[in-house]
Amino acid sequence: MTERTERAGRPFLYVVVCAAGAADGVGGLITAAHERGWEAGVLATPTAMEGFFDAAEAEALTGRPVRSAWRRPGAPRPFPPPDAVVVAPATFNTVNKWAQGLADTLAVATLCEACGLGVPVAVLPCVADALAGHPAYRESLARLRAMGVRFGDRYSGEPDERGVRPRFGWERALDLVAPG
Ligand SMILES: Cc1cc2nc3c(=O)[nH]c(=O)nc-3n(C[C@H](O)[C@H](O)[C@H](O)COP(=O)(O)O)c2cc1C
Repeated sequence: MTERTERAGRPFLYVVVCAAGAADGVGGLITAAHERGWEAGVLATPTAMEGFFDAAEAEALTGRPVRSAWRRPGAPRPFPPPDAVVVAPATFNTVNKWAQGLADTLAVATLCEACGLGVPVAVLPCVADALAGHPAYRESLARLRAMGVRFGDRYSGEPDERGVRPRFGWERALDLVAPG
C-alpha cells in the first residue's frame, strides 16, 4: 500500500501557495499536515509556479499534480472538495484580489469559493512592512476577517537585530484550521 493510499479517507486540505520568497519551504507544511492527519493538495498562483517553490517536490509529497490553471470543461475535478484551506505564504497581491473578489487565478477563485462554502480558511500573510500600511491591504484584512477568514501573524521577512531572518511559522496555519 502506498503512503497516499494509506491517507485516503482523511480530511482534505488545500494548500494555496503564492509568489513570496518564503514559498520554498512549503514542503515542510505538507509534511506537517500529513502528520496531523490531513491529505493535502497544492494550488499555486501562476507567478508562484515560476520558481518560487519546488513543484516536483510538492507533487511527490502529495501524490497529486500541483494545480495552477483551471481544468478543461468536462474534465474531472483533480482534487476532492476541501475540508479546509490554508494560504501560505499569502502575498499582498493575492490578499487584495481575494478581498475584492477578483477571481482571475485558480488560487484566488478557490479562496473566494471556499468562504462561500463555509470551509475554514487560514492565512499566513508574507507582506513587507512597506506594503502592510497600504490602506487597500488594511481594508482587505478587515473585509476577509469579517468573512470569517483566520489570520496568523504577518511575516515581514525582515532580519532581526542580529541579522537573522526569522523562520516562517508554517504550523500556525494548521493550528488555525485544526478541528474542534
Ligand atoms: C524573490 C521575490 C520575492 C517576493 N516576495 C514577496 C513577498 O514576500 N510578499 C509579497 O507580497 N510579494 C512578494 N513578491 C512579489 C510578488 O511575487 C508579486 O506581487 C506577484 O505579483 C504576486 O503574485 P501572486 O499573488 O499571484 O502569487 C516577491 C517577488 C520576488 C521576485
